[in-house]
Amino acid sequence: MPLPLEPRLFPHKVDQLGLVTDEALAALLDRYPEELFDINSYSYDDEGQVSLETGSRGRASGETILAEIKAGRLWVNLRDVQEAHLDLWNPINEQFQANIAELGIRPIKTTGQLILSSPGTKVPYHFDAAGVMLFHLRGRKRLFVYPPDEKHLPQAEMEQVIMRTTTEELTYRRAYDADAQVFDLEPGQALTWPLYAPHRVDNLDVFNVSLSLDFQTWDTRLTRGAHYANGVLRRKFGMTPASMGRTPMAARAALWAASLAMKKAGLVENRIKDFERSFELGADRRAAA
Ligand SMILES: [Fe+2]
Repeated sequence: MPLPLEPRLFPHKVDQLGLVTDEALAALLDRYPEELFDINSYSYDDEGQVSLETGSRGRASGETILAEIKAGRLWVNLRDVQEAHLDLWNPINEQFQANIAELGIRPIKTTGQLILSSPGTKVPYHFDAAGVMLFHLRGRKRLFVYPPDEKHLPQAEMEQVIMRTTTEELTYRRAYDADAQVFDLEPGQALTWPLYAPHRVDNLDVFNVSLSLDFQTWDTRLTRGAHYANGVLRRKFGMTPASMGRTPMAARAALWAASLAMKKAGLVENRIKDFERSFELGADRRAAA
């Protein structure tokens, strides 16, 4: 079944379980596996265009990391919550299962990342190559969700992101905001949106904690593979692929199968893999400057 065609809010109570207090978060940061940490710092120019620095936790304690997030301009993602933090994952997943039963979606893979982010900071305009349900747990954040059409998400740019040939963000223009649906998320709310719908996030003036639950269904997996294959056909073979909206699921499945062969043949080099980490938390140079 496809994802809903409009954003949809669900209530939850996971924010009331005592799992996102300062104490609980500092203890979690102390024991969370280092290889599952992503630490990002975004800066913006006057036009809203973004640049990204990534950092590492170094030897900073959980308490220090938490203090840096509260004082800075950081996004810290703890990946694979479904394996590394079951106390949080289990109640989230229970609520998620109830929500998707209502939507008629059957995921084949689900992963969770816990996102701790600074007051007033932002996530730039982007799309995710999976279904997402965002469980908000602490603080307040404003989400702008845009229509997933050719104007807001050109298919050729989308292929490039899915092929992972670039760390570039999607093209964003302030004028797009007139087309956005805007949600001020409170703890106890979960939001999902149409597959690939571009979105951006502004934290309001408080420290924020959310869990982003990403899921693949057969539809999302085949569509993602089809975009990958189209990207290779466009760039390596000079072809102009059909619009995905007019590509039936059977044809997407064939393209998906082709994408597996293309990946095996190493037709595209992944430039994100080697992206360097450029600052360390708790180090002399403040990460949040
Ligand atoms: Fe996202």
